[in-house]
Amino acid sequence: MNSNSNIPTHVSIIMDGNGRWAKQKGKERIYGHAAGVESVRACVEAAAESGVEYLSLFAFSEENWGRPDSEVSGLMSLMMQTIQNEIPSLKEKGVKFKVLGNLERLSPELRSAISKAEADTEPAEGMAPLLTLIIFLSYSGKWDILQAAKKMALEYSGNLQKMESLGVDDFDRFLVTHGIPDPDLVIRTSGEKRISNYLLWQSAYSEFYSVDALWPDFGKENFRLALEEYGKRDRRYGKVK
Ligand code: FPP
Repeated sequence: MNSNSNIPTHVSIIMDGNGRWAKQKGKERIYGHAAGVESVRACVEAAAESGVEYLSLFAFSEENWGRPDSEVSGLMSLMMQTIQNEIPSLKEKGVKFKVLGNLERLSPELRSAISKAEADTEPAEGMAPLLTLIIFLSYSGKWDILQAAKKMALEYSGNLQKMESLGVDDFDRFLVTHGIPDPDLVIRTSGEKRISNYLLWQSAYSEFYSVDALWPDFGKENFRLALEEYGKRDRRYGKVK
């Protein structure tokens, strides 16, 4: 937990509106995704400057595999290129990089670039990262819950009595986000107000913030405004204060 409780420990962003941004400019959708990388950079800086400890970004959902092949392959190339370009500067800043999702669906080349980037940005023993940047790739909330349920069932199949006694925190251990605090704030750009199969389990008590800006137009100032709004929220977790 962040020592200043008005600063969220974990901010998560559903980056939306790249396609519309590109269309407004009469360009191909991939042009909007490429422009969106600038916003990623801005938010990493703004998060680190504000004392946020975890920044997670929904970069590609399980459902996004159903987009036209050209867009999917364009996005995968952009991920590869972005990882290769940005890792040295993330490492220099002390940002730990992590990718979570159904990674078996990614190409072996991309998977290996991800593993290398994760290893390269691992802080030295005993050192805490300035910020942990998590990219959700080929991720969906229902997929995560299902894979967790399968793993849990497998682990306890020989001990149904023990399985019966498990609670919410025990289940948490099987989610891909295990060890990462649940998001305090979920931001969605482009004016949409849906969770879109994102962190369904983990966002149970997240504060939700929708902003009209399309993702490529979302910059440091937008990020700070979102944190300001978060600071005014009264989080009761279903209880009475
Ligand atoms: C949603 O906009 C955006 C995406 C599906 C892709 C986001 C990816 C990036 C910004 C690349 C970032 C790279 C890294 C490594 C994090 P949309 O296409 O759904 O937009 P629309 O709703 O206007 O069509």
